Amino acid sequence: MKVQLIGFGNVGKSLLELILDEYPKLEAMKLNLKFVSISDSKGTAVDEEGLDLSNVLKYKSVGWSGCDYYLKGYSALDAIKCIDSDLVVELTPSTNNGEPGLSHIKTAFTLKKHVVTANKGPLVVAFKQLKNMAIENNVDFLYEATVAAHVPIFCLLSSCFLADEILKVEGIFNATTNYIICEMEKGNSFQNALDNAIKAGWAETNYADDVDGVDAARKVVILANTIFDSDFKLKDVKVEGIRNVEPLIVEAKRQSKKVKLLCEIIKKDSEISLQVSPKMIPLDDPLSTVNYGDMAVKFYFKNSQEIFVSAKFKSPRQTAQAVLNDIIKVALKRKCTRQPA
Ligand SMILES: NC(=O)c1ccc[n+]([C@@H]2O[C@H](COP(=O)([O-])OP(=O)(O)OC[C@H]3O[C@@H](n4cnc5c(N)ncnc54)[C@H](OP(=O)(O)O)[C@@H]3O)[C@@H](O)[C@H]2O)c1
Repeated sequence: MKVQLIGFGNVGKSLLELILDEYPKLEAMKLNLKFVSISDSKGTAVDEEGLDLSNVLKYKSVGWSGCDYYLKGYSALDAIKCIDSDLVVELTPSTNNGEPGLSHIKTAFTLKKHVVTANKGPLVVAFKQLKNMAIENNVDFLYEATVAAHVPIFCLLSSCFLADEILKVEGIFNATTNYIICEMEKGNSFQNALDNAIKAGWAETNYADDVDGVDAARKVVILANTIFDSDFKLKDVKVEGIRNVEPLIVEAKRQSKKVKLLCEIIKKDSEISLQVSPKMIPLDDPLSTVNYGDMAVKFYFKNSQEIFVSAKFKSPRQTAQAVLNDIIKVALKRKCTRQPA
């Protein structure tokens, strides 16, 4: 399967390292993954016979200096349009307007290329449109890593509980705010906790979307749209961040509870409400055990009742593992549906 990688930062590089490390397992699956192009913000590395991944990683680490197959100024969009491939893996930064990922994904679909992405931006802006384009062009569109990185959410929903009904979802989807709240529960002020989160690499200097609950709300939009096949937008989520969470933490301590920035999707009769806000969590609720950079989801099903999944988050390698899993799913499906010669 010919693959194009768009976005070669933390997750993109981890993805290639993972593929090199797990090469024997992938070989045994006979997927024949061939990366024919890899694009970053300044150009594209191209080899239609398949790039040497360790060589590509080495050249990227020195800014492509001396690399004769890296074409400076050859954009990702042009690479998607001009280079023959089966799958586009989209790993550019998540933005408010969804670009550049939105154009990359739409272009891939019109050319009947499958898409795997970890990029929330395009799905928040145009979920229904992208889903419909994938269906119309008969291609796969997988995005496991967009919500809570490697916590298995969409793969779980697509293969288990098929005749069941989701009544409510509660999640901890933002590692930065969870880290800050845990630091505040140890007695730090909001500002000190935020500084610690930045120092530890959990928060970026541009932290507003995290602490104001917007990043978590984006994940709520993607998850709710997937579950209910709906077209919610960011404005449909009631959002409260954690800048003024201190009094709630004091009260929670008094009541022997924990505080979490809780993402909630609630279905009542035919109404669906979406919310992100700091909430007190009793200690017997498994969500209270999700600390620092870890993430989790709790589904309430009509028949299966409560299902809780959590994962420790340590590095982009885990996100890359979720992306690789989606790639493998696309490749295996192609292998199964390919007509014998
Ligand atoms: N980090 C995680 O563990 C994690 C978890 C879940 C989801 N995600 C999502 O996964 C995506 C990738 O995350 P990341 O941490 O790898 O981000 P990152 O380190 O910032 O890397 C982004 C990559 O995209 C490239 N890029 C930017 N604009 C581009 C354009 N117009 N055309 C082609 N490439 C372009 C950048 O190029 P340069 O190298 O030239 O700068 C860089 O290689 C994001 O959407 C993020 O929200 C990440």
